[in-house]
Amino acid sequence: MVQFAARVARLGAPYAPPRPKRPPQLDLRDVIPDFQAILGDCAGPYPKIDGWRDALADNLGLPTAMVHPTAGGDDALLQIVLAMMEEGGNLVTAVPTFPMIQRYVAIAGGDMRSVPWIEAAFPEQAIVDSIDANTRIVLVTSPNNPTGQVVPIDVIARIRDHAPQALIVLDAVYMAYANQDITDAVLAMANTVVVQSFSKAYGAAGLRLGYALSRQADLLLAMQKVAQPYGISQPSINQGYKLLAATHQVDTAIAAIKANRATLESALSTGGFSVWPSQANFVFFACKNAEQAQRMFESLGDSGISVRCFPNDPHIAHCVRIGVPLNEQDLATLMNAITKVSP
Ligand SMILES: Cc1ncc(COP(=O)(O)O)c(C=O)c1O
Repeated sequence: MVQFAARVARLGAPYAPPRPKRPPQLDLRDVIPDFQAILGDCAGPYPKIDGWRDALADNLGLPTAMVHPTAGGDDALLQIVLAMMEEGGNLVTAVPTFPMIQRYVAIAGGDMRSVPWIEAAFPEQAIVDSIDANTRIVLVTSPNNPTGQVVPIDVIARIRDHAPQALIVLDAVYMAYANQDITDAVLAMANTVVVQSFSKAYGAAGLRLGYALSRQADLLLAMQKVAQPYGISQPSINQGYKLLAATHQVDTAIAAIKANRATLESALSTGGFSVWPSQANFVFFACKNAEQAQRMFESLGDSGISVRCFPNDPHIAHCVRIGVPLNEQDLATLMNAITKVSP
C-alpha cells in the first residue's frame, strides 16, 4: 500500500460541481455579433469531461475506471506529486530528465533525489541505493528526455519489488517512438501509474491534453482531489475527439519519424559525433565541448531546426538535442545544416 500525502485526507471527496436545473449563462449575442460562432458548442456551463474520458478509454482499449484525463502530461505529473508528496518525503529519479518534476516536488515540500544517467546502462543499483523508507515516488521516464534512452521492463520490475511503499510513475510521453511499448506491463504491476500526453506523437502541445492510467482507483481518486475542478477546456476536448479519430494517420507519422531518426543518427555518427541511441522523436549527441554545442545550437536554430542545448547542466553542456523532422524536405535541410558543423 502506498501512503498518500496528508492533504489528500484533509480534502475529503473530490470537488463535485453544482448541477443547477438551468445553468446561469450570459448570452452576449446582442452585443457581440459573432458570439455564437466564437463559442460554438462550448456555450454550455462547464467542460464535459465524462464523454472525453470514455472516448480515451475506448481508444486505448482500457476500462474507463483506469483513465484519468488531465491538462497535459505536466498536469498529470503535478497531480501525482501533490497526491503523494509532502515534507520529509522524497522522489527518486534519474537525471537529466524533464525538468518540471523538480519544481513539482519542491511545490509539494519534498526532496528530489537525482541519480546521474548519462551512460547507456540505466543506473539501477544507484536508484535502488537512493530509495529509503521516505521514498514516496520513483519516477521512470522512458524514453527519457533529453537522451532518448529507455529503461528495460525487468529493471522497473526489480525497482518495484525493492520499494513496495513507493508509487512507480512511468512518464511515457515519448513511448510511441520506442521499440517496445511497456505501458501494459507496468500497469500490470501493483502501485504504478503511467503518464501520457497529446503533445508529442499527436503534435498537439497547444491543446494541453494528457492523461494518467492506473489500476489503483485510490490513486486516481486522490489525483482528482488535488486537481483543478475544470482543468481541461471544452475546445481542447472537442479537438481531442478529432485527434482520436486520426489515430491511424498519427501511426503513419510515427513510423516516418522513426525512419528519419535512423537516417539522422547515422549521419551524425558518420560526421564524427557521439550519438545516444534514441527511442524518442529527437536525437541527442555530444559535441567536442560546450562552445561547439552552442555554435551547433545557433547554426541549426538559424536554419529553422528544432534544437536544444543545455548550457546550465555541466554533465551535458557539450550536448545537443535535435527534434527529428517528419517530412523529407525538413530532413534534407537538417542533414545539410549538420554537414556544415564539424564535430
Ligand atoms: C518527459 C516529459 N514528460 C512530460 C512532459 C509534459 O508534456 P505536456 O506537454 O503533455 O505537459 C514533457 C514535455 O516536454 C516531457 O518531455
